[in-house]
Amino acid sequence: MNNLKEKIKNLAAAYSDNFIDVRHHLHANPELSYEEVQTSGYIRQRLDEFGIPYKVMAKTGVIGSIQGKNPGKRVIALRADIDALPIEEKNDVPYRSKNQGVMHACGHDVHTTCLLGAAKILNELRNEWEGTVKLIFQPGEERNPGGASILIKEGVLKNPAPSAIFALHVHPGLPVGRFSFRPGKVMASADELYFTIKGKGGHAATPHLTTDIILVASHIVVALQQVISRNNNPLTPSVLSICSIQGGHTTNVIPSELKMMGTFRALDETWRFRAHELIKKIATSTAESMGATIDIHIDVGYPAVINNEKLNDEARKLAEELMGAENIETTEMRMGAEDFGYYSQEIPGCFYRLGVGNVEKGITATVHTPIFNIDESAIKYGMEMMAWLGAKAGY
Ligand code: NI
Repeated sequence: MNNLKEKIKNLAAAYSDNFIDVRHHLHANPELSYEEVQTSGYIRQRLDEFGIPYKVMAKTGVIGSIQGKNPGKRVIALRADIDALPIEEKNDVPYRSKNQGVMHACGHDVHTTCLLGAAKILNELRNEWEGTVKLIFQPGEERNPGGASILIKEGVLKNPAPSAIFALHVHPGLPVGRFSFRPGKVMASADELYFTIKGKGGHAATPHLTTDIILVASHIVVALQQVISRNNNPLTPSVLSICSIQGGHTTNVIPSELKMMGTFRALDETWRFRAHELIKKIATSTAESMGATIDIHIDVGYPAVINNEKLNDEARKLAEELMGAENIETTEMRMGAEDFGYYSQEIPGCFYRLGVGNVEKGITATVHTPIFNIDESAIKYGMEMMAWLGAKAGY
């Protein structure tokens, strides 16, 4: 067992080119959320080839299982998201997306590749570690309700029930060869806000005969700014942005209906739902005080990603052992969202970042852009870290 680390590193080095090819295949054939039919088939094909059993869940999800020694001793889940984004790729590379308007611009091709690589390594070394590793190839990370929530409803965290779950995410701001971890709050919850404001429209020259809902909406936008600034603990970040106002069509008609949309983000679940009530109350009372009616719909999205402190500490120590302490950093908190939050609400989770950037090679584009790409030497590191955590963490 002592040289398990070396064995994992050797296999990752030996297979690295093969898995770069796997990434090229996935990158060239991206599919949108919940439509990952070919991707799912490709993952199953690879698992068949490795001799790893699996089952299909949530239509395109693939749940594999690798048993080490004493399979009942511990169960660890490793998760990769498999879906792509509606973005037209602008990279001029041989493995450029073949699906027009669809691109792996958030690195989910890399996540899937690293988990496949880790699966092959863990399976070959299954006599050298204990417990069971559950592989979760998850659809639909990029779109509500989030593939994670569907898989959990279908029982992915049962039979057997993992005691911990890990996922990696590419980070172009982090140099290749490095990883970053963070205990506690990592990413925000994200909820969508929809408002419909109605009033009596009319001639702009006779405002006294109308309810000016443009003015009502303006007051609401301003009033909503106090939700966070006057009610949220300033030590816990939160964001409320109104990003769209649609109403009216000309210079001299006061409209009778107007729509607004926005996003609300938080890192505390209690505050999150209290804020929803405040948003409704402030928007409603402002509208009513001015004679308008308002309909508010809050589409509740992903919960915040909270890393279990003990699990994160353990994973970080293991990462330092694998990569050297100088290559492990602390991730900053972000107000972006990830449906990994659904898992971390249920069981101890650790969401960590894989460095894929390389300033010298000009690989700096951020995720969700048409020119996002990675330094592919990151794949070897991503594979070996996943395998290492799968074999060693969660005791
Ligand atoms: Ni992503």
